[in-house]
Amino acid sequence: MLFGKTLLITGIASGIGAQTALVAASLGAEIVGVDVKAPPATVPGAFIEADLSDPAAAAAIAARLPARLDALCNVAGISGVAGAAKTLAVNFYGLRALSEALAPRIREGGAIVNVASIAGYGWRANLERTKHLVGVQGFPDTAALVREFALTEQDGYPVSKEALLLWTQRAAHQPLFRGRGIRVNAVSPGPVTTPIYGEFRALFGDARVDDDITRVGRPGTAPDIAPAIAFLCSDGARWINGANVPVDGGLEASVNASVLGF
Ligand SMILES: NC(=O)c1ccc[n+]([C@@H]2O[C@H](COP(=O)([O-])OP(=O)(O)OC[C@H]3O[C@@H](n4cnc5c(N)ncnc54)[C@H](O)[C@@H]3O)[C@@H](O)[C@H]2O)c1
Repeated sequence: MLFGKTLLITGIASGIGAQTALVAASLGAEIVGVDVKAPPATVPGAFIEADLSDPAAAAAIAARLPARLDALCNVAGISGVAGAAKTLAVNFYGLRALSEALAPRIREGGAIVNVASIAGYGWRANLERTKHLVGVQGFPDTAALVREFALTEQDGYPVSKEALLLWTQRAAHQPLFRGRGIRVNAVSPGPVTTPIYGEFRALFGDARVDDDITRVGRPGTAPDIAPAIAFLCSDGARWINGANVPVDGGLEASVNASVLGF
């Protein structure tokens, strides 16, 4: 499915990113990984160490890449315990900067897959704030945005994922991506038992996480998520663009039923 394709995967050192590398490699892809920390030896491919919260990271990564890429998997993310400013920088502005820097390197017909979250569900309810955050050009001073919108530590994660879901739909139609035939989609996991999961429990409380799990019967695992990312990178997904694919055991459907009353 990915034979002969080269994928760049951020967040490759752990959880969903590491599993995506294993799945994509088993489907024939060459892998280049990006992370703040080195991946375990079991994770295939080349590795570039970089911190996506650094505004200089995107250009530094681009300078070290092969001339041609087929897909960018934006998997790296943090929970919010490092504060809302850092969380916005890693989960949205750093991801967007990397996507924009690499678009000219991604082949015609290639793909970008953004790992968002069920936590970004509120992008419609918070539309004006989300539009503002996405409308800010370049790599902003995220601490100033946190002050402007009075974001708490708990807000950082959902607000970053709301921005990511809105931007995914916008980017799918921007000339930088669409003009080159690059599809931009999102995958939104529910709770998944990776290292970030314990931080979610600390940040949002056990009751919130347990309610989500009760709705769908069990938490997800990285192997539940990675195949959906690999599929969206493949030519089999060639008519899927600007979509958000919930990979959550039915959690979004259950929340929709509660919120919309059906
Ligand atoms: N696990 C869940 O419950 C869950 C649910 C919904 C969405 N997600 C999303 O899935 C993605 C992957 O998370 P995971 O569950 O694999 O967590 P994880 O903590 O196992 O992996 C995250 C990876 O991102 C890397 N990373 C963190 N900050 C970085 C930075 N500044 N620059 C480069 N790399 C950085 C980490 O080193 C780590 O390897 C994240 O975007 C997360 O928000 C996870």
